[in-house]
Amino acid sequence: MGPRKPLLLVVFLTIFASVVFVARLGAQDGSRLQPHLQKVEQWIRPPKEAHLEYVSCEEHLGWLEPYSFTYPIQYVSRDIVTVSVPDSGRPSLTVMEQPLFGEFSTVDLGASQVLNSDKCLSPLALEVPRVLVRPADASNMIFGLQTTIGRLKNTVKHLARWLPNTNARLYAIVIESEEKPADDAEMAALEKEFHDQGMNVSVIHPVSPTDSFAQRYFSLGSVMYQARNGQTEWIVFIDDDTFFPSMHDLQLMLQRHNPKKPWYIGSLSEDWWAVDHYGLMGFGGAGILLSITMAETLDKYTPDCKAHLRTTAGDISVMDCIYQHSSVKLTHIPELHQVDMHGDLSGFYESGREILSLHHWKEGSAAGYKLEMEKMHLVADICDDCFLRRWQFSNEILLSNGFSITQYPQGHLTGKKPGGVLGTGVGGVVDKINLGEMENTWADEINVLHSLAPARPKMGDDIKTSYKLLDSMWIDSDPEHHMQHDTVRQVYFKEGAEGEKDTVMVLNWHAGTAPPTTSNTLG
Ligand SMILES: *[C@@H]1O[C@H](CO)[C@@H](O)[C@H](O)[C@H]1NC(C)=O
Repeated sequence: MGPRKPLLLVVFLTIFASVVFVARLGAQDGSRLQPHLQKVEQWIRPPKEAHLEYVSCEEHLGWLEPYSFTYPIQYVSRDIVTVSVPDSGRPSLTVMEQPLFGEFSTVDLGASQVLNSDKCLSPLALEVPRVLVRPADASNMIFGLQTTIGRLKNTVKHLARWLPNTNARLYAIVIESEEKPADDAEMAALEKEFHDQGMNVSVIHPVSPTDSFAQRYFSLGSVMYQARNGQTEWIVFIDDDTFFPSMHDLQLMLQRHNPKKPWYIGSLSEDWWAVDHYGLMGFGGAGILLSITMAETLDKYTPDCKAHLRTTAGDISVMDCIYQHSSVKLTHIPELHQVDMHGDLSGFYESGREILSLHHWKEGSAAGYKLEMEKMHLVADICDDCFLRRWQFSNEILLSNGFSITQYPQGHLTGKKPGGVLGTGVGGVVDKINLGEMENTWADEINVLHSLAPARPKMGDDIKTSYKLLDSMWIDSDPEHHMQHDTVRQVYFKEGAEGEKDTVMVLNWHAGTAPPTTSNTLG
């Protein structure tokens, strides 16, 4: 999706506001800073226990118009300033001793497009590694997929989230349908569309016009191998709905494996039945990564393997050929995800676990629960690996970044019932959720002990209130002075029950520091 310009803009997220914020907080905290961080971070790093005060703010809400909400709605927003810190691994959860939001306002666009509130909070500083980093260098990778040209067109916007300007190449074998080859002019136009967006994609016909689905998939191995150059270390089979949230993290995983040795890297299905039924293989949707040495073997045996496929599944064919012609076994990387659960996958997306790849989130593959990955993932442009990271705030609020904001009205997040003095637990205690366990929100009765465990039962609506991501877009925090998009806005939404108002929660993510000069972790 292209950047969208709001009609009118947030007043408060300005450099001025940040400076006031800093001036207020920075001095108190300087002594606790690590020396090498001090120069860059001093002005923005919050004290451990932030002293919160409400401030007045004015917000222009004309940009809400296109959503056609049923007014009045409950509305609240907060500006977030990301603070770059050294990468010390991804925490499952970060607990903040402060609220995410000030107080809700009732908004009726028909009555007024300007919201004045004296119960706003100053911008919130969140520490994340990799603020505004350049795309990772992936010149060591060649990706391959096969699909119909229609499906490939629809997935340009998704590939545009992780492929551009990485120096990675992608080969896409396309057909119009099983009966009909794709049109050459259409293929050239699509290829140009990719190139225009900084993606090095080659849109090609099947190696042989009579290739079956599985043969087309299998042949990608040779296509990628033959296209190698001196830099190529990995070839990667993907589906047209395989998504890599962070090329930086993918590269870090690959760095643990020497490409001069034969590697068959992938992930099992989350569903034990599928593993038992199909084999100990890399399931295609999660991505199958072969070192160039492994790819050489596959290429050598391709004529034989491709002519004698055991099944109609491409990923099984890759496994079969590797297991028949080498002693290499699957290296299972659980952070790569086939996503074979169905229905509501909130528990998965709210798990805080590291996710190197995703699959099965598009319409068709996720009936009724289609996700707009390109919107969910937009915030990664501000902070590369803050996507799906979790922050817990006071007032029983949990942010699963890019997916949801959840609230626990009975106190299950902290284990303290609301009531008493400022949530001191005077109200009594309730079971505290174990956030290390994945909430089993999916519909299937499947055995996930080898993959998603530990898991916990699905929570009722009375215990957990969910505000799901509705939209995300680039905006300009200060149109009068910048005229550039510098902020990622996320809109979270929950429809009100009968007789209740709908609720809109907005987060405006702004990069607080200049990109470090050595931002590209791969050099
Ligand atoms: C794609 O990558 C190859 C190999 O690095 C390079 O020769 C070619 O110019 C690139 N094409 C585009 C359109 O960037």
